[in-house]
Amino acid sequence: MKIRILGTAAGGGSPQWNCGCPECEEARATGRSRTQDGVAVSGDGRAWYLVNASPDLRAQLLATAELRPPAGTRDTPVRGILFTSAELDHTLGLLGLREAAELDVYATAWVHEALTTAFPLHTVLSGYTRVRRHDVRDGEPVTLAGGLRVTATVLSAKRPRYANEQAPGEAVCAYRFDAGGRSFVYAPGLAAWTPAFEKAISDADLAAVDGTFFTEDEMGPARPASGMGHLAVREQLPLIHARPRTRFLFTHLNNTNPLLRPDAPETAEVVAAGAAVAFDGQSLEL
Ligand code: MLT
Ligand code: MN
Ligand code: ZN
Repeated sequence: MKIRILGTAAGGGSPQWNCGCPECEEARATGRSRTQDGVAVSGDGRAWYLVNASPDLRAQLLATAELRPPAGTRDTPVRGILFTSAELDHTLGLLGLREAAELDVYATAWVHEALTTAFPLHTVLSGYTRVRRHDVRDGEPVTLAGGLRVTATVLSAKRPRYANEQAPGEAVCAYRFDAGGRSFVYAPGLAAWTPAFEKAISDADLAAVDGTFFTEDEMGPARPASGMGHLAVREQLPLIHARPRTRFLFTHLNNTNPLLRPDAPETAEVVAAGAAVAFDGQSLEL
């Protein structure tokens, strides 16, 4: 299995356009910017699937050699797009794929519903290309091209702010990819290590998990990480330390996160627990 990490920042990216906080200033000064989270996964190195389509997707595709069209063709190695949520930072980039002949989009029925009603992305795109909606069901494996199998695990009912009118449901999920006996779990929005999530990562070779906030009160006491559907990194470290079988990477970093600095003591804490911070353009093979 091949994995390309396309982006590793939370909504807004790092630096964020309207933020002059010390972390964003540092990102500007050093050029250590991060695009909004997404990954590409392939079982055979030819058929690729995107997980999440961030507003930065066009730049991410251009920067990734594996995702370019074969020379002389009007084609793409991208066989489909999977959404972990209907959040804007995970879905807006789909609009940028409207030149495709067709788009195979995988998500829970709840997420597809949000993308047809409160944020009618599918409806808009249908004027440009053929959108094929695939509903993924909690715990049910789906066969993809290139020897890849994917299984969704529903994580929470945390709704995007635009979809607060929609009845709560399967709003956030993780995906576990299996190919050739190797496995990779992608969970950028992890409210808690639920028993279902523990099952999804059991025996996984690699997991890229929610690194939005390092601590619960990073945004101040009025905006706790848990209230935004994110389990703080520091609370995940003991859980990770107890699972040496799996390699853990943190992704979806908010622009307040001290892990943005490679030399921060918090980054050393992550490394001491046996984990690491993912970076844009990272290439992994299992
Ligand atoms: C989140 O990850 O909590 C959401 O994407 C928030 C947002 O970007 O508005
Ligand atoms: Mn987000
Ligand atoms: Zn900032």
